[in-house]
Amino acid sequence: MNEVTPRLPVVVLISGGGTNLQALIDAAQRDLPIEIRAVISNVAEAYGLERARRAGIPTEVVDHRDYADRERFDRALAERIDRYRPRLVLLAGFMRILTPWFVEHYRGRMLNIHPSLLPKFQGLHTHARALEAGEREHGASIHFVTEELDGGPVIVQARVPVKPDDTPETLAARVLEQEHRLYPQAVQWFAEGRLELRDGRAWFDGRPLEQPLQLESAS
Ligand code: GRF
Repeated sequence: MNEVTPRLPVVVLISGGGTNLQALIDAAQRDLPIEIRAVISNVAEAYGLERARRAGIPTEVVDHRDYADRERFDRALAERIDRYRPRLVLLAGFMRILTPWFVEHYRGRMLNIHPSLLPKFQGLHTHARALEAGEREHGASIHFVTEELDGGPVIVQARVPVKPDDTPETLAARVLEQEHRLYPQAVQWFAEGRLELRDGRAWFDGRPLEQPLQLESAS
């Protein structure tokens, strides 16, 4: 990529393995115009921190158990995030419910990835629930974060078929593969200034989205 182009400063929040983080790191090393300034986890053992260290990205741990309540944790977390002056905060398997104060602080500049075709299956265990519900299609969504858990305006989705012999694990693996394409795409649009949260809606190229965008299937 053209090194004269300024890269969008980003902070990524994780709690676990960090394969989505890895997809973002890999994309940034290719042509995604972001600079991941820090990776912050609430879990010290999260393997994603190791991925960040290997890529030479600063890491931080803010352990929620060190704080008396959610509000204090969120304020400490925001204080740590803001030291890096990100223009975008990415939740990538960050398993904490966020306070309204935190959400407001990052309104319009915080994205989340969720493993379902929102608004279906908000919350946990999405793959098992999709199978139980007899869905023929499942997937993942990127959305702006608002007060409602997994309820913010959806930007883009990737769809996968549900197969008759799927288990939650096989389905999760199929979805995760798409997540790794989906997050870099959404972040690229944001970096290019094509995405915006306005009046509670997701806007793309200057128009409110009536429907989430769909990631084209890999050919
Ligand atoms: C992903 O399925 C993501 O959608 C969900 O948590 C999982 C995180 O996986 N929010 P990883 O840590 O990125 O591997």
